[in-house]
Amino acid sequence: MPASAGRYYLTSPIYYVNAAPHIGHFYTTLACDVLARFMRLDGREVRFLTGTDEHGQKIEAAAKSAGQEVKHYCDGIAEKFKSMSQILGSTHDDFIRTTEQRHIKAVQALWQKLQEKGDIYLGSYAGWYAVRDEAFYGENELTLGPDGVKRAPSGAEVAWVEEPSYFFRLSAWQDKLLEFYTANPDFVLPTSRRNEVLSFVKNGLTDLSISRTSFKWGIPVPGDPNHVMYVWLDALTNYISALGYPDQDSALFKKFWPADLHMVGKDILRFHAIYWPAFLMAADLPVPHRVYAHGWWTNEGQKMSKSLANVIEPAALVGKYGLDAVRFFLLRELPFGSDGDFSHRAMVNRMNSELANDLGNLLQRVLAMVAKNCEGKTPQPGKFTPEDETILAQSKALYSSVKAAIERQQFHEVLETIWVVIRAANGYVAAMAPWELRKTDSARMSTVLYVAAEVARPIALLLQPFMPDATAKMLNILGVAAEHRTFATINQSLVPGTSLPVPVPVFPRFVEEESPKL
Ligand code: MSP
Repeated sequence: MPASAGRYYLTSPIYYVNAAPHIGHFYTTLACDVLARFMRLDGREVRFLTGTDEHGQKIEAAAKSAGQEVKHYCDGIAEKFKSMSQILGSTHDDFIRTTEQRHIKAVQALWQKLQEKGDIYLGSYAGWYAVRDEAFYGENELTLGPDGVKRAPSGAEVAWVEEPSYFFRLSAWQDKLLEFYTANPDFVLPTSRRNEVLSFVKNGLTDLSISRTSFKWGIPVPGDPNHVMYVWLDALTNYISALGYPDQDSALFKKFWPADLHMVGKDILRFHAIYWPAFLMAADLPVPHRVYAHGWWTNEGQKMSKSLANVIEPAALVGKYGLDAVRFFLLRELPFGSDGDFSHRAMVNRMNSELANDLGNLLQRVLAMVAKNCEGKTPQPGKFTPEDETILAQSKALYSSVKAAIERQQFHEVLETIWVVIRAANGYVAAMAPWELRKTDSARMSTVLYVAAEVARPIALLLQPFMPDATAKMLNILGVAAEHRTFATINQSLVPGTSLPVPVPVFPRFVEEESPKL
């Protein structure tokens, strides 16, 4: 199934409202936001969905321990996720909450459809359940800790559950799923994660318990309100309820389903890559094009947890380093898909070496000289030398390599590719030494300054999805008009004689404070 060319539907996971947002949630939404911005600048009609996952035993328990009525508790934390999106500058088009009527209606309709198709039956569940993961585990997946507690591979404690339950005939979908993965080798990325999914499915799927009777906080099963739906069946459906499902003729559904990409963390891949396609196939609905599973962050080498009091809060992080630097760092520091460590030292290193030194200096040196020596106007170039042509071509070629990396969600590769050209541009400026030419050959100086500024233009354009504010400043001081900032303009050039504003430094160095801890 080819991804459709004109439009692009991508989703973040919907976040559990059992605790305030942290860097992990910020990271997932950030990756989506960069893709959404990129695709819009690239001329695609984008729909970017995010939201909150508000049902289930875990949320009910969190509300109880906070001493609040559950919906009221959800309202409070959902607001915090909305404000995280704001802090991040997220450009999502919709924010769905699973307690909304539009969602409840869609989930019940999907249930009925699965029932009509004969994929749901009533039985009883006896097995292990981890409330923290909201997941069922087989005995063979568990380990017994020295404390005598049985745990899931995620480290979550499991408890034995026995209750009447509806089941989804997941086992009946095993072969269809395997056929689907074979026909769509890029459905799960990165490839290492795809292999995990394949081996899990090949090991045999058992039917999935999809309702619970031991608590109340969930969407009632149509026709049997003693049961509430399993929270993952409820949650996954958000991706279509936000498009108007069950109305498959709604404009949004018709235009945007199936999704181009579900962005998820590695911990929730099984639900997205196995259960979700099985539900969709069973309901005769098309399956999304891709699920990308990213890695997890630790903080200064440690797993983040409330008990260690080392959870990184997005607002604190952005307050300390600035939004653009944080957005840049998180996607630059580690290969997207791998786990990584947040450290103050690594953050400051990237800010000072790559933003302030490499990129900041390129702009600053060139534009300060233009302001002083070219009457503050884009200089008039003369004939280009082979050196000029080489660096100009390198910068123009960025678009296609960046686009190819973005199509595979390789953000670090995008940034590395761009930085190769930034470093080359700095090398070009150093070798051409326009400050010397100023004394001997002002026409050649103008050409060199023009070339350097023109090389910076595609760089600034392509960095917009990553650092929206800083690149707006860059494009302003380069004299690129607002209507010339989409990728359709990448092959244009700076217009000699354009009046330029006084150049302002875009990437200040981070100056060390006394307490580096976040
Ligand atoms: N509610 C489910 C998702 C349902 S989607 C239909 C859920 N919510 S969550 O709030 O627990 O996690 C949401 C996302 O945050 C997951 O993609 C998860 O991987 C990510 N992260 C949580 N902690 C993280 C880190 N420490 N590092 C990176 N991302 C992590 O799961």
